[in-house]
Amino acid sequence: MSTEDTDFDTARERHEQLAAEITEHRRRYYLDAAPTVSDAEFDRLMHELIDIETAHPELKSADSPTEQVGTFSEVFTPVRHLEKMLSLQDVFSEEEVRTWAERVTPEAGGCAYLCELKIDGLAVDLVYEGGRLVRAATRGDGVTGEDVSANVATIAVVPQRLEPADGFPVPSLLEVRGEVYFPVADFTKLNESQVAAGKAPFANPRNAAAGSLRQKDPAGTAERPLSFIAHGLGALEGFVPDSQSHSYAALEAWGLPVSPYYKLVESVDDVFDYIHEYGGRRHDLVHQIDGIVVKLDDIVIQRRLGATSRTPRWAVAYKFPPEEVNTRLLDIKVSIGRTGRATPYAVLEPVTVAGSEVEFATLHNADQVAAKGVKIGDTVVVRKAGDVIPEIVAPVAAARDGSERDFAMPETCPECGRALAPAAEGDVDLRCPNARSCPGQLRERLAYLSGRSCFDVDRMGYIACTALVQPLEPSEPVLRDEAGVFDLRMEDLLSIKVVVRDPDSGLPKIDPKTEREKVVTYFAKQPDKKTGEIEPKKNAVEMLENLEKVKSQPLWRVVNALSIRHVGPVAAQALAGHFADMDRIIEATEEELAAIDGVGPTIAAAVKDWFTVDWHRAIVERWREAGVRMRDEAPEPGEELPQTLEGATVVITGAIPGYTRETAAAAVKARGAKVASSVSKKTSALVAGESAGSKYDKAERFGVPIVAGEDFERFLEDGLPEGDESDPE
Ligand code: IVH
Repeated sequence: MSTEDTDFDTARERHEQLAAEITEHRRRYYLDAAPTVSDAEFDRLMHELIDIETAHPELKSADSPTEQVGTFSEVFTPVRHLEKMLSLQDVFSEEEVRTWAERVTPEAGGCAYLCELKIDGLAVDLVYEGGRLVRAATRGDGVTGEDVSANVATIAVVPQRLEPADGFPVPSLLEVRGEVYFPVADFTKLNESQVAAGKAPFANPRNAAAGSLRQKDPAGTAERPLSFIAHGLGALEGFVPDSQSHSYAALEAWGLPVSPYYKLVESVDDVFDYIHEYGGRRHDLVHQIDGIVVKLDDIVIQRRLGATSRTPRWAVAYKFPPEEVNTRLLDIKVSIGRTGRATPYAVLEPVTVAGSEVEFATLHNADQVAAKGVKIGDTVVVRKAGDVIPEIVAPVAAARDGSERDFAMPETCPECGRALAPAAEGDVDLRCPNARSCPGQLRERLAYLSGRSCFDVDRMGYIACTALVQPLEPSEPVLRDEAGVFDLRMEDLLSIKVVVRDPDSGLPKIDPKTEREKVVTYFAKQPDKKTGEIEPKKNAVEMLENLEKVKSQPLWRVVNALSIRHVGPVAAQALAGHFADMDRIIEATEEELAAIDGVGPTIAAAVKDWFTVDWHRAIVERWREAGVRMRDEAPEPGEELPQTLEGATVVITGAIPGYTRETAAAAVKARGAKVASSVSKKTSALVAGESAGSKYDKAERFGVPIVAGEDFERFLEDGLPEGDESDPE
């Protein structure tokens, strides 16, 4: 076991101990009015708990005392639950799920596992007497909660009366447990309106659910789109379920919302499949989830296993690695994109989110910064969902100390100093108007055109592009726009000097001898000491060789490389696929362009507009003269590609050389196949590029043919691999 594991286990143990202790102190203070510790001692325990949760956010759960501030308020009346509301034992690895399963096997051998989603909301307890909702309460400390009946009455999906149904007569007493949640889709809007009203935004949908439910005035709750899903029963008279799934069938029959995603499975391996499936789909759901709950389905077995003081032995919660963490927003800077857009971005105190280090996050535009209500110096919630770009969810308003300051959008371009302006009236985005030679815009365009979805020029990375347009004084930039990129000569490159930067921090490296920034010629070796002769470095030779090779790339890549606003790989493929000739694209009318599938009026206008600019057309002409391909031989206009994958369903995962996720999907569709997001027994093939994850294992298990990333183009040409006739059943 590594030191890290040991540290984590120690932290977990201490966390559990503290949580139980604090909960007990709260109970004594609020309910018995007989506290046994001083306020200062209570605060010390609480701070220790907060410190542990800051270091290990995965230990923080909905029922942690840190989440229960003001549980017993003056606004809501305390109520005792009919039966204690238990919590769940959290586990953080598959190994721990297996250990739990092995531990319960002697009692539960052969019993099905019920897998369901762990909804990140607020637990509530509903009591129905004679089929009528008589009370709703928050969980509180599990024994006593707060009466939120009037607030819950405003949640449309919670029935006031139970419906009798065939085989499920309405029981005389029913205590239902479930989760009130705030739909993810409405969360951003809610925070925007909070900020607009001068109120603090919520850090996440769970806090939004709690805040919305615990409104003093239930009319306030009614305005929030709260929803509810039932996940268990408490006290019960007049109905005897024999399994958890049986109780869900009854709840559903009576008109209570039950999750559509629960699944009964036979083996622990099936449990892992469920965990993987919803690990991949967790962002496609209406509510946030923070894990998977596994319950033994049989109620007799549940009873036999019983519970500890806090958690049942018959269930376990597998927690996903956290995708949201708190960190400091050190600064907000502005970057200039390849189409001139000025985008504010957050400079963060580096943190690990979902397994990777995050140091920057986009903030889109000044309106977004204002709408999110973030200030420089704030503690912020940072989210990185799957392979999505990191973003700031919200500030932690409670952590402010008054030193935070508002962000103001600069008036001039940070790269070239020209005044920023909206491209059109009413546009929220500001742009640098110096499109041709703003070094920032040109650097980004060059990096894009040399990248994977355009010419794919090996050895022409971001630093090389920077060196070409922003060399160190006194050398002059070799390129003033991208027209000359295919005419670069070695002698142009040899004198280019750049500052050496630390790849991690981005800060200039200091030469210990001169105590100045370390400067090197980027494309040339040190001059020969004797002869003074200057030789190119390998990267320069290879970059020029590669620039030569990529001139024959297909037309859509050339179109994409022009950095026309709104034209990405998908639109470029649509244009090249339709016209197969750059000149025909240039000559096409706006109507003709707009009529193409995948183009439409906005893109058509942008394309037309782009070609009216002299220096834009000059780019195309210089590239043409340099030998860049401006025409695809096949297919003829209107003619389809051979439908080699007709009727197939293909899943794409990992990095495919020369393609983005979108262009790979478009290429597969152009061959007549459907593209699906998850592997099932019906998948015809999995295209698995580098770093393919759980989809690969699943395809192997189901016997789905796997196509390696480097064989992708052969796959497009030849169709499904031989010998894998799909089962006629
Ligand atoms: S069952 C005795 N099922 O997670 C079983 N709880 O960390 C107790 N939660 O307080 C709960 N989704 O608020 C159960 N599908 C689910 C759940 C779920 C979310 C919450 C619940 C509980 C907390 C424990």
